[in-house]
Amino acid sequence: MSKDKPLRRSREQQSADVSEAQIAVHWPEEDYFHPSSRFIAQANLVDPGVFERFSLDKFPECFKEFADLLDWYKYWEKTLDTGNPPFWRWYVGGRLNACYNCVDRHLAGHRNKTAIHFVPELEHEVVQHITYQELFVRVNEFAALLRDFCGLKTGDRVTLHMPMVAELPIAMLACARLGVIHSQVFSGFSGKACADRIVDSESRVLITMDAYYRGGKPLDHKEKADIAVAEAAKGGHKVDKVLIWQRHPGRYSSPTKLVEGRDFLVNDVLRTHRGKRVDPVPMPAEAPLFLMYTSGTTGRPKGCQHSTGGYLAYVTWTSKYIQDIHPEDVYWCMADIGWITGHSYIVYGPLALGASSVVYEGLPTYPDAGRPWRIAEDLEVNIFHTSPTAIRALRRDGADEPAKYNHRFKHMTTVGEPIEPEVWKWYHKAVGKGEAVIVDTWWQTETGGFLCSTVPGIHKMKPGSAGPAIPGIHPVIYDDEGKELPAGSGKAGNICIRNPWPGAFQTIWKDPDRFVKQYYSRYCRNPKSKNWRDWPYMAGDGAVHAADGYYRILGRIDDVINVAGHRLGTKEIESAALLVAEVAEAAVVPVTDQIKGKVPDLYVSLKPGLKASNNIASRIMAAVISEIGPIAKPHGVIIVPDMPKTRSGKIMRRVLAAISNHQDPGDVSTLANPEVVDRIKELVK
Ligand code: PRX
Repeated sequence: MSKDKPLRRSREQQSADVSEAQIAVHWPEEDYFHPSSRFIAQANLVDPGVFERFSLDKFPECFKEFADLLDWYKYWEKTLDTGNPPFWRWYVGGRLNACYNCVDRHLAGHRNKTAIHFVPELEHEVVQHITYQELFVRVNEFAALLRDFCGLKTGDRVTLHMPMVAELPIAMLACARLGVIHSQVFSGFSGKACADRIVDSESRVLITMDAYYRGGKPLDHKEKADIAVAEAAKGGHKVDKVLIWQRHPGRYSSPTKLVEGRDFLVNDVLRTHRGKRVDPVPMPAEAPLFLMYTSGTTGRPKGCQHSTGGYLAYVTWTSKYIQDIHPEDVYWCMADIGWITGHSYIVYGPLALGASSVVYEGLPTYPDAGRPWRIAEDLEVNIFHTSPTAIRALRRDGADEPAKYNHRFKHMTTVGEPIEPEVWKWYHKAVGKGEAVIVDTWWQTETGGFLCSTVPGIHKMKPGSAGPAIPGIHPVIYDDEGKELPAGSGKAGNICIRNPWPGAFQTIWKDPDRFVKQYYSRYCRNPKSKNWRDWPYMAGDGAVHAADGYYRILGRIDDVINVAGHRLGTKEIESAALLVAEVAEAAVVPVTDQIKGKVPDLYVSLKPGLKASNNIASRIMAAVISEIGPIAKPHGVIIVPDMPKTRSGKIMRRVLAAISNHQDPGDVSTLANPEVVDRIKELVK
């Protein structure tokens, strides 16, 4: 066991810009857990020589192995083109189709095998088992509809605002078949948030659903489409067609009326496309496959553009070797396809491998905390993947539930936030019955797939640490001055990746400058260099590299808050608050939460002469929900007489964060208005 000391950051180390890393929870180093011999005996990857095969001197040709897991219409000529840093191009000259790789190529061997198990939230509703053959038929018919009815063609963008239903992967794969770029917006986001993404991607078609279930209740989802189209129009962008899937086929389940000439029920239109087949379009490897909008340091979400060849190769390899998916496995990733985890590890990775992937509509704890284990038992799920937030909630609501069921996981994943060792151990013992291996996978929307994780058949596990970098990924940690921290130093710094990798996003949609600036400029050794070695990728996370080579991720170093594993920009929430006429200034800080990891506290000051009131606070709350969605709902709206500020007028978020977390805000005497600190403390009490 490693003897690293728990990390403590001194006040001096903390800068006003560092938010989350400062208040990240730190825990002592833990004892290792070993994968069982039973797991190792069947694992896809047990040869430690893999790390030598993917050492930096084998770069970039080592990544051929990733792309060789796919079927190509035309093999690539160049594995990596670095001619225009940092716009790396993978598998140049190659042609493939993502839908073909996830569907058609499995028909010969697995036609009648389940591709997608759709589990409705209501327990009395029948589970749908969609075979690869059925998936092929449904994807083809919907692709025909997109092409012939909507006039969509290769390179067009389409926005999807779909809940967790089988029709979501069907729609994504139909787009991929045509080379149409899909942009799926998380269904919990508001109509306004959807509109922003429609406008930015210039989508002329919106694909949505009439309703879905959440917590046992039907939600009217179509109303969000009306808001999205109206808001997009205000932004100067017209949506021509809204395609509406029915949650209960043949029955329209929304109280919101259809708009003549604009809204179309998919099931009606599909009638004229029955039995149609659409040839998959052989796409260049670097053609964009999808956009995934994510939060950053500004109020505007950015469209991360992912490629067809590099992305698909990356998620397929990591699904095979880190998720240890075999074609006969039943795999359940209990994330939402509206986030990158669902794209990579519900849809593209598992289906490219011909596995059976579970799509669950609802809340993990509905109707009770035994639900996931009933689903797992019924469907014989043997690989399970979820977030620390879900694990904490399931533990709180039903620590003894897993023992009541006969599910048996060989492998489990945690993703999205740091997991406390105590929670990890419950996951291992109770959910994994002491048998399952666990991988704690660190990665991001931008990275397409995993960056750090143990290889489950090779490494021992250490609760609270993600593990070493996966084969082919070579991280480096810099201190604030840009000096490399020695490997295994046990000191905190900014984690970067030295080398390009196929899954990395290609650019920010329509904003290449922001792409370069935000991810590559800080540690770039020479902006004129054509050498990839001069362009490390900056992840935006604080991390520690322990003596045993394992990375522990501390949290974001920028203005991003991870709420329940969902990424929110503090600036987005602040911008929403500023829409309320009375608000002069807004500042969002993360507060530690027992279940969700972090939640946002929203501090506002009002324009001169105005008095705080409950009415203003609730209008601010409502503005955040309508601009972004309920996931961004502040834990508290605190109307303060003034923000704590530096003499140069900068809001001291560090002080607010300390107050919200009931910590000592430290020396505030250098503030322009130190007296306000005690008044704010009183308010928060
Ligand atoms: O702070 C890291 C945290 O989630 C951020 C990325 O969020 P997003 O782009 O929404 O993608 C989430 C799913 C990959 C990271 O910058 N994060 C992700 N995985 C972990 C994590 N923090 C600690 N441990 C992890 N395993």
